[in-house]
Amino acid sequence: MQQPVRISPSILSADFARLGEEIAAAGRGGAGLVHVDVMDGHFVPNITLGPPVVRSIRKATALPLDVHLMIENADRYLDAFIDAGADWISLHQEAVTHLQRAVAHLRSRKVKAGVVLNPATPLMTLEEILPELDYVLIMSVNPGFGGQKFLPGSLEKIRRLRAQVAERGLHTLIEVDGGVDESNARALVQAGAEVLVAGTAVFGGGDPETAARRLAEACR
Ligand code: DX5
Ligand code: ZN
Repeated sequence: MQQPVRISPSILSADFARLGEEIAAAGRGGAGLVHVDVMDGHFVPNITLGPPVVRSIRKATALPLDVHLMIENADRYLDAFIDAGADWISLHQEAVTHLQRAVAHLRSRKVKAGVVLNPATPLMTLEEILPELDYVLIMSVNPGFGGQKFLPGSLEKIRRLRAQVAERGLHTLIEVDGGVDESNARALVQAGAEVLVAGTAVFGGGDPETAARRLAEACR
């Protein structure tokens, strides 16, 4: 059974000087999570933020914090992000060598554990870890920047993952990230996505409340 769709606005496209207000506006528009993109300038070519910013956001909103780690040696920083207030943490299949150990650690600390796949990383790499995951994050752009064009092949990847989750009798949530907007939201939900990350579509136009609401409506 699919869960109701949740919008997870990515603060990467928000005004960082007014982060609290921007998140509150997206929340009024119906956002169900806050997507926090952590980049280290190594795994991806961009640098964003770390645990101190997560701690400040934690104080500014009651929404769950969906932390997407695009960093090398992510396993060394799990406790720092959990202690800062992360509720969901996703790790890249391509960046964490001892993925099972890291996932088990997240679960032992009662955080929702997710694994992220880049566009070129096959679903097959989830075979063993899938039953241990709360969610899978399918990248629909190559990570590193907001505002990139949605890769249409992601729809089929989500459909296949949805079928595998059902076949195996699992309850794994499917999240999608990159180039999500009103034009593709409905197709993504029909393919099986339950959490839609959106940066530019929510924060890019200056009215996050209306934008989040419109995106949620576009899913129906
Ligand atoms: C990309 C990030 C995304 C990004 C999405 O590396 O993981 O979360 O902020 O931005 P949009 O929605 O603009 O593609
Ligand atoms: Zn992200």
